[in-house]
Amino acid sequence: MLIQLHPDVMRGDDIGLKSDWWSDARFAQQQFTGANPTTITQASTEWIRAFKDAAAKQGYSSASDTIAAAGSKSLFVQDCSYFRAAVGAGDADVLISRTPGADDRYECASVTLFELNPDGKLHPLAIVIDWKGSMEKSVVIFNKRLQPHDPFYAEPTEAEKNDWPWRYAKTCAQTSDWIRHEMAIHLVHTHLVEEVIIVAANRSFPSDHPVFRLLEPHWFRTLSLNAAARDTLVPDIIIDLVGISNTQAMSFINYAFTTFDFCGKYIPNDLVSHLLEFFTILGHVSGVTRSNWTTFPSNPTKSLTLPNRCCLRWQC
Ligand SMILES: [Fe+2]
Repeated sequence: MLIQLHPDVMRGDDIGLKSDWWSDARFAQQQFTGANPTTITQASTEWIRAFKDAAAKQGYSSASDTIAAAGSKSLFVQDCSYFRAAVGAGDADVLISRTPGADDRYECASVTLFELNPDGKLHPLAIVIDWKGSMEKSVVIFNKRLQPHDPFYAEPTEAEKNDWPWRYAKTCAQTSDWIRHEMAIHLVHTHLVEEVIIVAANRSFPSDHPVFRLLEPHWFRTLSLNAAARDTLVPDIIIDLVGISNTQAMSFINYAFTTFDFCGKYIPNDLVSHLLEFFTILGHVSGVTRSNWTTFPSNPTKSLTLPNRCCLRWQC
């Protein structure tokens, strides 16, 4: 009903109403600009080597060759391999939630490899469905389609639609990304970290201080929302949805809080450390040059207006 009445909070259809919602193109778009666009990062040499070796081991030489040809600057990952460490589970442990009277729920720690093509098309190449400490102990599924559609949103083929192992892998990746988004990025990295800032700012600044006045509008209802999250949302709703035990869920939340890199999350630092090459290539496509992105963090009083009308401003 909500979808029918309000197709989108901005414009366009809800993703579930797209006829090709299951396609690689939609999957890639969702991972970059969907619910949780903050976790896609440049692939490390270790991940690139691991995926390339896994492809070779499976006899999928064209995938191995594609990864080798792409090079480190064009390969990106969404890396949830830390999940078992975050919840205190061993490599061989199954991540599961067992509640009397309810179906068992499972969680997985996926790692997704993407290639950013020179024309700006992001394409998923491979997915570790549940990282268990090494590629040898984990299941890695490679995409049979190593290149994206041309054009990007052309109607995908029946072969892509019926590639069930690959669609299962994408489901695993989105399941991992959901718990990471809701419990780490959204709950902890925004709401709970913000609470620390609110308390510290109230203790440190008079209410008419420019910094206080700049920050205060961002705190509208945050403390009361956080209190409700602690009292109800996490213990009565989130815990009953996730595929890990109550103790593991609390450990997951604590891990997100204790490993939060405050300075690394400054917007310029975050953009540069994770996505500079991404924006370099997108900039090549859309007209923004690399110099914009390298200049941006060293000149934080400047604002950068992107051709798609997205304006990033870092001023105070
Ligand atoms: Fe929120």
